[in-house]
Amino acid sequence: MTESELYVEYKGVFLPKHLHPPDSLKYYEDFTFRPDDVLIVTYPKSGTTWLQEIVPLILSGGDLTPVQTIPNWDRVPWLEEHRAKILNLEQRPSPRAFATHYHYNMMNESFLKVKPKVVYVMRNPKDVFTSSFHYYGMASYLVNPGTADEFLEKFLSGKIMFGSWFDHVKGWLGAKEQDHIFHIAYEELLQDLAGSVSKIAEFLEKPLSPEVIRKISDNCVFKNMKQNKMSNYSLVPEEFMDQKKSEFLRKGIAGDWKNLLTEVQTAKFDAFYQEKMKDVKYKFVWD
Ligand code: A3P
Repeated sequence: MTESELYVEYKGVFLPKHLHPPDSLKYYEDFTFRPDDVLIVTYPKSGTTWLQEIVPLILSGGDLTPVQTIPNWDRVPWLEEHRAKILNLEQRPSPRAFATHYHYNMMNESFLKVKPKVVYVMRNPKDVFTSSFHYYGMASYLVNPGTADEFLEKFLSGKIMFGSWFDHVKGWLGAKEQDHIFHIAYEELLQDLAGSVSKIAEFLEKPLSPEVIRKISDNCVFKNMKQNKMSNYSLVPEEFMDQKKSEFLRKGIAGDWKNLLTEVQTAKFDAFYQEKMKDVKYKFVWD
């Protein structure tokens, strides 16, 4: 199916209609944040599910109950997705944890006023591209990626769900107020998960003992999360996600783009990246 059949255009980006009906988008526009809310913000395929595991464990002080009993999409709901409006989020005790794929310029008035805590996760865009390529091939609510060449065109021009990776990252890095935003890279989590958990906990003002940090990071390593049916999307019916084609928790590594992109495609990606990101001062771990 095509973009016009599967997507709706909202605030300049494509969103899959199946997940984001108009009343859900309206619900988010009117949503009231609290100052102690924790919002995980990502461009898709940058480590959202990982943070939906880590953040609740930090907030629970290492109690595994939330990640063993609640699917990630209800544990840390996306505010723009259809489930948000039926979960009684207004009744949830503080601190609440949410996720969003919105660009900074899509955020609502309450967000800009209240400034909840944001954990912004970034990932090497060539790995985001690669992870997306496999994901678009298995999710029925997304347009089939076609060839890597075809998908590369769409990825670079932002003609995919949630628009351009480049605009997303630049928008959040350029947010007016930075004090309530913590930036971390997927690659940092891979390199030092315990250290990353500790930094996130510090940002969330939730000091944890080294034993609890260890317990959380042990639970959140790829092979353990892959076994957790509350986090590995095995509860989603095959008609929506066909994990026989590609698993949601697929490889969980850095550098898999080397197995997909040719030299010519890599050169094209790199040239586009250099041009788009030339004014960005932030030092990315993958550069
Ligand atoms: P791959 O497709 O490269 O394996 P998101 O949750 O934002 O959709 O991102 C999904 C990507 O994060 C997938 O990447 C998935 O495997 C990876 N991921 C999820 N949990 C992870 C973990 N514990 N360790 C490493 N990677 C993880």
